Amino acid sequence: MTAIGKPVSRIDGPLKVRGAATYAFEQQVTNPAHLFPLLSTIAAGRIAQIDAEQALAAPGVLAVITHENALKLNATGDPQLDVLQTDEVSWYGQFIGAVLADTPENARYAAGLVQVHYEPRTHDAEMRADRQDVVKPYHAALFGEMPGELQNGMPADSSFGDVDAALEAAAIRIDHTYSTPINHHNPLEPHAAVVEWADDEHVTVYMGSQGVSMNQQIIAALFGLEPPNVRVVSPHTGGGFGSKIRPHSYATLAVMASKISGRSVKFALTRQQMFSVIGYRTPTSSRIQLGATADGKLTAIAHDVVEGSSNAYMYAEQIGVCTRLMYAAPNRRTTHRLLMLDMPVPTIMRAPGESQGMFALESAIDEMAEACGMDPVESRILNEPDLHPESGLPFSSRKLKECLVEGARRFDWANRSRRCEGAWLYGSGVASATYPAPRFPGNAARITKVDGRYCVQIAAVDIGTGTWTALSQIAADALGVDMSLVDLEIGDSALPVGSTAGFSSGLNSWGTAVMEAAKLFKDGKETGTQVLGGNPKAEQYEMNTFGAHFVEVRVNSETGEVRVPRMLGVFDAGKVINPKTARSQLVGGMTQGLSQALHEATVVDSRYGQFVNRDFAGYHIAANADVGSVEAYWVDSSDEHTNEMGSKGIGEIGIVGVTAAIANAVYHATGVRVRDLPITLDKILQQD
Ligand code: MOS
Repeated sequence: MTAIGKPVSRIDGPLKVRGAATYAFEQQVTNPAHLFPLLSTIAAGRIAQIDAEQALAAPGVLAVITHENALKLNATGDPQLDVLQTDEVSWYGQFIGAVLADTPENARYAAGLVQVHYEPRTHDAEMRADRQDVVKPYHAALFGEMPGELQNGMPADSSFGDVDAALEAAAIRIDHTYSTPINHHNPLEPHAAVVEWADDEHVTVYMGSQGVSMNQQIIAALFGLEPPNVRVVSPHTGGGFGSKIRPHSYATLAVMASKISGRSVKFALTRQQMFSVIGYRTPTSSRIQLGATADGKLTAIAHDVVEGSSNAYMYAEQIGVCTRLMYAAPNRRTTHRLLMLDMPVPTIMRAPGESQGMFALESAIDEMAEACGMDPVESRILNEPDLHPESGLPFSSRKLKECLVEGARRFDWANRSRRCEGAWLYGSGVASATYPAPRFPGNAARITKVDGRYCVQIAAVDIGTGTWTALSQIAADALGVDMSLVDLEIGDSALPVGSTAGFSSGLNSWGTAVMEAAKLFKDGKETGTQVLGGNPKAEQYEMNTFGAHFVEVRVNSETGEVRVPRMLGVFDAGKVINPKTARSQLVGGMTQGLSQALHEATVVDSRYGQFVNRDFAGYHIAANADVGSVEAYWVDSSDEHTNEMGSKGIGEIGIVGVTAAIANAVYHATGVRVRDLPITLDKILQQD
């Protein structure tokens, strides 16, 4: 009767394989009308005039919605949600209107007939780290209710000891700047919202969502409705990577259009539209300075970040926070500064902060190890802290050293070779990984017994991660029954409240609620009404996952082409609930890390404030042929403080540090150090 720890196949697998899993756009509503948006073609200014006459006369058109006839919303101050509330244009590709028609084709055709006249103003879309006009972040924009300066609620800066003096006195110094570009979320399922109002006060929104309860709250607030009167339904979500945490402008627009027209509405974004309205990964520049003794002990660490943000809404990502916890050193500093640009608003994307910051830190550690004449695995182990170097708190568990040692053993790191086969130069690299292990507040689970079966309900979601399966396993063990007797219900805000699938917090948070509900249920008490807070032990312990990546690359000495035949990761993720879905998550993260390292970058044409590459022809994501052997393992680990299951989270740790491991391997193979992602062949050849 222990389902936890078993490699159970996805219980939603057969539905998905047969195409019977219902995603947002496939939800059936009565006589739907279809929406096609109008996107701004300037980066900043105002709309002088919109001429909709021709569009309104086109076949099948029901309405043309603009700021002139839009519903008045309860403004949140975030133009990503407050759609069509002013004539202001804040970024290129912002929604400035929409056409509603009887078919998707008629809506799209008529949208092309709408004429928009602008009064542009000078815009600024130049992400350059050497600019002086940077701003210290002053509020946490994404989860606005959180205090603090960065998006995760943390302070923008930290400082201990005297970094400059320690750097001055250090036997060995490293001082380099590392940069990462804009990346875009491209989940398999494009964003879509299907809306049906039952009456003036009750609406159902089907949308691919990473958090149905939070989306319910946001949509209710925007439209002035009681939250229980807004039902957000998302039984299956085809990936999100952070872009489906918040409802964004597409959901607001669909709900508004349905209200205005009195029709059900279906609205699916095209892949190209997604590039300007669902957020993107923050572009960053990290200056890392390290000081060390001659035998490789770090004495000073500084990580100074400049990152892109938006004049439309302040968003500040925690790029340097990873540097606060990775290595011991008495003198240390992190800072975050923003460039406020006339660009769409960035948002969290798989391992927000760590995925960019650890590229910088783990590249610099590799450079330091070489400068000290040390093996980069040894150098990392030597500088492991006993306690969190800045808060002074103990870690709830930290098996990074074990990950490095086990990874080195499996990879045969000791015998790694730099060699040449024909035109191909081979080399290997290593990098560490970390990610927070939070338990979110706001969870309750209801358990009822019907005909000998156990119905377990919570407004959790499965974004392709395996929640349907792993949460059923937790429920079975919590109830002490066979998993085949558990009927899980998730993905509906009408169920007891659930937190979002973000920050790798899902099972930690929902699982705890299910465990607690099972205790009440076994005592014959009411379930589903006790809403849990976060983890009370989070004040006593720093909670993080860890990992170590080992990669082999080969680089063509004539073309600069980089290939990655082997990737191997070993992780400390706490107790693994389901080894099968966990391995998929880790392999997926590592693959996305490879893609981030070598392929993904969105290019800004700052003359127009526009993204140049806005589809899969121009935005390259690693395909099958780009990926070699990917192995994911974990060390034996169960955390006694994160939750009763002992798990820590696996959604994001897999991607963190892969970029640095690959950059370090490219350096090992070629002697060329690329400090600017992605590692494209031109950068390798330029430095030859
Ligand atoms: Mo993850 S970027 O917290 O969805």
